[in-house]
Amino acid sequence: VRDLRDLARKNGIRIGSAVDAAVLRSEADYRRVLNREFTHLTAENAMKWESVEPERGVFTWDDADAVVENARRNGQQVRGHTLIWHNQLPAWLTSGVADGSIGPAELRTILRDHIRTQVGRYKGKIRAWDVANEVVDDEGNLRQSIWLEHLGPGYLADAFRWARQADPRAKLYLNDYNVEWNQGKIDRYLALVKELQAQRVPIDGMGFQGHLGIQYDYPAGWADVMRSFADLGLEIAVTEMDVRMVLPVTPEKLATQAEYYSRALADCLSVKACREFTVWGFTDRHSWVPGWFEGEGAACILDEDLRPKPAYHALLATRRR
Ligand code: G3I
Repeated sequence: VRDLRDLARKNGIRIGSAVDAAVLRSEADYRRVLNREFTHLTAENAMKWESVEPERGVFTWDDADAVVENARRNGQQVRGHTLIWHNQLPAWLTSGVADGSIGPAELRTILRDHIRTQVGRYKGKIRAWDVANEVVDDEGNLRQSIWLEHLGPGYLADAFRWARQADPRAKLYLNDYNVEWNQGKIDRYLALVKELQAQRVPIDGMGFQGHLGIQYDYPAGWADVMRSFADLGLEIAVTEMDVRMVLPVTPEKLATQAEYYSRALADCLSVKACREFTVWGFTDRHSWVPGWFEGEGAACILDEDLRPKPAYHALLATRRR
């Protein structure tokens, strides 16, 4: 196995990375490694609502377009991330809802138009959409958000239906973190999927973000969790894999990290419905982790100089069993 593309081909799976659109433009070595190694891309921030419509009715598609265009030129597929989230919403929307100038009926129209516009723009170019991101909280309840508060729980069914109309061939996903192991969250998602299916809502996939850390036990039941969603007829994807550690980096920590990455890929490969394994950034040079977890980092499979870490080699050595 030469590289991740070769691994992907030999195992019949897509191997992806999140992409920082600004870095894609400015760093040639980042671009070269991204396109050499990966068969699937997710825009790390460029397709989020605040990125594409920072002012009401003013659309800024350049970064999102650049990711899609890079994929086209390099034979990569794309995961759209994300249509509905409680974070990275544009200020005009959150403040309009907060001060009451945008009421529930208008909010529903705004959401419908957002989905139609964005999914429609990339029709045929996005393999899978994260339609709804992180809509269940860690207590296993539907997450409080402007959507739940003002539109009620029916917003989810509406969103999937609008997305399906705008691009009938895109796979439509729920996506979240801690679903690898949090039983309350797992149960709520399984129930949610069944409810949506009972209403004939078009839902195709469950995305497991896979943000792990070596200071916690590896989620040993993850493959079984994947299977429980696959048993409902869903496709599975690992959508944002990374494995952080408390700094400083040591050879022992890198070895544990390598084992976590390899187990995660092996878990995915052990489930027939798992079709994509995407890392949330491929180099420690550009990773969300240090900015969010004080004292932690080194979560990616290549180091800051784009040199392979043990985790990269461990992925290459992982086989479908
Ligand atoms: O672009 C602005 C820049 O103009 C400004 O000067 C700078 C100052 O803070 O901020 C820049 O925006 C940052 C943005 O990333 C782009 O780099 C935001 O502050 C920062 O909050 C934002 O973080 C992103 C985070 O989502 C926001 O929630 C991370 O890059 C991104 O990796 C992370 O991704 C999420 C997934 O979408 C969903 N799952 C969890 C995952 C990790 O949090």
